[in-house]
Order: sequence, then structure tokens, then C-alpha cells
Amino acid sequence: MRLFSALCLFILPLNAMARSESASGTAAEIASPDGKIRVSVESIDGKPGYRVFYQQKPVIAFSRLGLDFADIPDLAEDLKIASSQHSQHDSTWTQPWGEEENIRDQHHELRVVFKSIHDDEREMTVTFRVFNDGVGFRYEIPQQNGASGVKIMDELTEFSFHDNLKAWWIPAYQDNRYEYQYAQSSVDSLDVIHTPATFEATDYALSIHEAALVDYASMALRRPAMHGQTLKADLVPWADGVRVYATLPVKTPWRTIQIAEKAYQLADSRLILNLNEPNKLGDVSWVKPGKYIGIWWCMHIRTCTWETGENHGATTDNAISYIDFAAKHGFDGVLIEGWNIGWDGNWYENGELFRFAEPTPDFDIEKIAAHSRKMGVPIIGHHETSANIQNYEAQLDAAFAFSAKHGMRAVKTGYVGTRLDHKEWHHGQYMVEHFSKVMETAARYKIAINAHEPIKDTGLRRTYPHMMSREGARGGEYDAWSHAAQGNHPDHTTILPFTRMLAGPMDYTPAIFDLRFGPNEDNGVSSTLAKQLALMVVLYSPLQMAADLPENYEGHPAFQFVKDVPADWSESRALDGRIGDYFVMARKDRASDDWYVGAISDEEARQIPLSLDFLEPGVRYQATRYQDGASAHWLHNPQPVEILEDKVTADQSLMLDLRPGGGQAIRFTPLP
Ligand code: NOJ
Ligand code: CA
Repeated sequence: MRLFSALCLFILPLNAMARSESASGTAAEIASPDGKIRVSVESIDGKPGYRVFYQQKPVIAFSRLGLDFADIPDLAEDLKIASSQHSQHDSTWTQPWGEEENIRDQHHELRVVFKSIHDDEREMTVTFRVFNDGVGFRYEIPQQNGASGVKIMDELTEFSFHDNLKAWWIPAYQDNRYEYQYAQSSVDSLDVIHTPATFEATDYALSIHEAALVDYASMALRRPAMHGQTLKADLVPWADGVRVYATLPVKTPWRTIQIAEKAYQLADSRLILNLNEPNKLGDVSWVKPGKYIGIWWCMHIRTCTWETGENHGATTDNAISYIDFAAKHGFDGVLIEGWNIGWDGNWYENGELFRFAEPTPDFDIEKIAAHSRKMGVPIIGHHETSANIQNYEAQLDAAFAFSAKHGMRAVKTGYVGTRLDHKEWHHGQYMVEHFSKVMETAARYKIAINAHEPIKDTGLRRTYPHMMSREGARGGEYDAWSHAAQGNHPDHTTILPFTRMLAGPMDYTPAIFDLRFGPNEDNGVSSTLAKQLALMVVLYSPLQMAADLPENYEGHPAFQFVKDVPADWSESRALDGRIGDYFVMARKDRASDDWYVGAISDEEARQIPLSLDFLEPGVRYQATRYQDGASAHWLHNPQPVEILEDKVTADQSLMLDLRPGGGQAIRFTPLP
């Protein structure tokens, strides 16, 4: 009977549905502006829930909504729809920097007020926003039962898949945080996973994540026992078991379901950004996107050290020569790690020894800062905390004052460690609150943040545009540490655009040119050189690193691409791809009429036809293509790269020839 009534609601036209919902009081409906996505919000036997339909087919079956508290009655059962309200929104806003300059926020909103069936004592509002590219919803809990400070013990939100979709996921609650290779398996085999997690059917794909995570715990997804295809929100708890300490009234982060017909189209979704609040910082002209190099890769391939001694990387001379190289080749910053007190000894375990305003004796900060000012290349600061939050917070103000004094415009933070302050998960409310403190302090000093081992990105860069980039996935560093066959598998970067990158920019650290190193020259990167270039387009970061050593770039013909490619775009369009196989992204430079394309493959060779219809019609372009050499292979022969020149127009196409583990990077410049 209940199923039948839900089905009726689904097949009735939208205006009729709107009428029936107010009459019945058990369901309310809303559709996306283009009508392809529909959401029904219901109360079944007093249990609130929702369903999602895409192209007339159910994709999320009835899934529960609600919250459990320690100190006030739960908002989970005996609830009815007391009222509901529809509205529509259509506006366009501008990103100060980004993958897209102007973003359209077009959605339909439904606010559903749930109240106790028998009295008015318990109440929550669930707001749904339905866009053409997916759904967002969040809870608003007003003050009730005389309580203001409450403990949220569980969030009941479910995602009950109609089909047993193929999932692409990384495990949650692991010591290496988000730094895992993605696995693929059906929904009904999952345990507990991080978001964004992406799910594929034959005729659609969807990705679950969250937006605007502030003062709450991150949401992992758990498949509770006995629920075959249902994943449930699993708020990362504090060490004491409480999931969230909240003050009523509270608005939770948005739970997001991005939906597209083809998985690669998910990469064009701006839903996460649209669900964040507009810029709260005002004038952010001090936040500057750009490319950087760093005294960094040498530590990872062990030709220099973080700690002081004869191979110390962060010396005055080294810093000056990196700054000179950056100035000569147009880079916008030089990251310097290992510059401060705390690295000597076992820094993994001794986070409390780090000093964030005290350079080592061989690092003359005054001299280096003067040189950086003279050459116009700011230093990018580095704060590795080894997950010792208390030690860092005690020095936070001094740390950013020091950075600002020495002309730094961005700081990379780091939280290597298995638990924060030896007890809290990296993903709980403790870390979310810590991030807010860092964001607030950094903004006061007009410094941007690039966080490693971070809280996952949920689009806060819209509200706080100095929150620029993050790691939050297995980055290029994993290729530095081992034999080429044991680093990131070649398919890793062909999964990231469909998963991690949906959350926001990533500091992956691409553009390694010398792909074999180590004592026997067999450690190395599981990619061809052309793919390393393509990653600079595919894996968006407003602070984009050219990660290799200056001597490996100097004189290399392909270095021209690293110098040309921008880190700030007016448009981005995912052109093609299959999760775990290949991906093609086109982006338009924000400062010129140039277009760039990055195409990457997994361990397979493939020919990818590229229609150039994204280019401006009627304009002739010079296409400079960096393609894999004929014998290039990610494992056996990673170095060969060929540079081809073509003249092309929008009505043509190119055939991209990608070798195993390879790629292609292209610059299109309008001809006069
Ligand atoms: C891990 C970061 O991902 C890496 O970039 C950094 O060099 C080390 N931690 C040391 O802070
Ligand atoms: Ca890391």
C-alpha cells in the first residue's frame, strides 16, 4: 500500500504531485530544473526518508533520514510532515580563481518540516536542493526540549541503492587516512568507506559526498549488517564516542548525490561549490593561484633530507638557487620543507618538537626572504605538525605572523600521523574545528593554505577562497618511495577525476621528468613523461606543483609545457573517460584564449579520438602536442616524449595515441 502510493506520486505530473503532497501530508516532491532528477520526501510509519529518481527510474530507494541524540529525544521516528515549501533559484556567481570562472547555481528547493506525530515537541527541517547535476540535502535542528548544547550520537541518513551498483572506493578508519588506491566492487560487498565514493550503472553514475563541512564530523559511509545495498552515514566519532558536539539551532553539512548519464560528466558538476556559502572574506586579491616548485622531491627520493646535516635540503644556498630557477622560468612560488626546528630525530613521533617560527641555523631566513622579494618569487611556507595539533595551535598566530613577515603568501600544512594528539581520528569534528582555526588565522595574515593529510574538501574554497588546495588522496609522493611497479598503479590517476577530484582541487604534485632514480635506477614513477604533463591539466590545483628537481627540467624540450600551462582557468570541460581506464579534460586559460587538453590512460595503450569542437569556431589554432614516444611504456620505457606541431580548427579532430600508462598534453594557441 505504501509502496503503491509512493509509486503514484512518482508517475503523476509534477504540478499534480505538488497538490497531492499538501493534501496527504505524508510526502512532498521536487524535480530538478530540467526535470531529469526527482526527489520524493516521505514519512513512512513515522520514519522520515527520501527517494531519488533519475530519468524516470528509481536510483535511491526509500532511505531513512534522522538524527539520534544523547540528551534530547531522537529525531528518527514518530515524525510527520508538518509542512513543506518549494522555491526556485537561478543565479550566476564568479570564482576569484578556479577551474571555472562563472558558475550557474540553478536549483529547485524543497524545505520539509517534520514534527512529532502526537505533539509539537520535536522538530527538524530537511532542505533538499535539486540541481540538474544532482541533489543536496541537509538537516536544520531548531532549539527544542529546552536544550541548546547537544551530543549527536548518530546520523541516520541512508543511501539505499536501487541497483547493486559498481562502487569505486577507499576504506575509512585507516591509519593512512585517505592515502589508498581505489578499489572497485559492488555495493553489497562494502564495509566502511570514505567519500567521494562513486557508483556506476550501465546508464548512469552517481557520487556521494558532502558540502560545507563546518563544525561537524566528516561523513563516512557504512553498510550496516543485513542491509544489502544500503549505505548509512557514519559520522567519524570523537575518542569518547560522541559524533558531534552541537549547539542548537544547528545546520548540518549538505549530503550530496551528484548524478550524470556518463561517469566522466560528473567531473563537470559544480554542485558542491553551489551548496557552499558565498565568499565571506571580501577582497581576496591577495589570494593568487599559480605554479610552484619546491625543495621537496629530493627528500622523497632521498637525495636530500628534512633533517639538518650534510644533505640538508633547506639550506640558504639551496633556497636561493631554487628562487633563481623559479624567477628565470616564471614560477609563482618555492615550497621549502625541513626549514624549521623539529625535523632532527624521529619527526613522525616527535610532533611536539616542531617550532613554526624558528629556522634551522643553516637557513638564513632574513637573507632568503630578501632574495625572494627581490626576485618576486614568494616562499611557500611549510608547517608539518606530525598530527600534534596542540603544539601547532599554541604557535598558530606566531607561525603565520612569521610567514607573513617573510613575504609568504601560502603555507602548506601537514598532519602525518595515525591519530591527532595520539587519540582523535583525522576526520572527526576535532580536526574540522582545527581547520577552522587555521583558516581564520591564515586569513588574518592574508596567507593561503595547501593542506596535506587534511579534512576532505567539501567546497569551502567558495566561502574562504584562501583555502586553496589539499592532498587528501594518494599523491605522487608514493611513486618516489619504491620500485616503479609498486608505486601508484597507472590506473590510480584515471580514477581520481571520478572520485577524489569531485571534492575539489588536489595537490597531487605532478610533472616528474626523471622517472627512474634510486641506487639502482629502478625506483620510479609509474607513468610516462607525457602523462606527467597531462596530469597538470587533468588534476586541477590552483597551486600546481612542478614537482621534479630543477636540474631535471633545465634544457628539457618538454619543460616548455610546464612553463606554459596555467593554474587558473575560465572554463573546464570533461570530454571523455571511463573510470579506471582513461580520462580527457579540456580547460581554457583565464588569462588568454589558449585551450589545454590533458589525456591520460591506465596501463593500457589506447587511441582516443578528440573532437576539437570545444575550440572557438572559425579560429585557427597552433596545437603543440606532447605525446608518448612510440616505444614509451610506464614500466619499461617511461621517458620518450615527442613534440608535434599542427594547425587546427574547431571542426577537426585529432587521434590521440596513448602508450601503456601514458598520456598526451596539448596547448592550443590562436593564430593571428
Ligand atoms: C606528507 C606530505 O604529503 C608530503 O608532501 C610532505 O613532504 C611530508 N608529509 C613531510 O611533511
Ligand atoms: Ca601525504
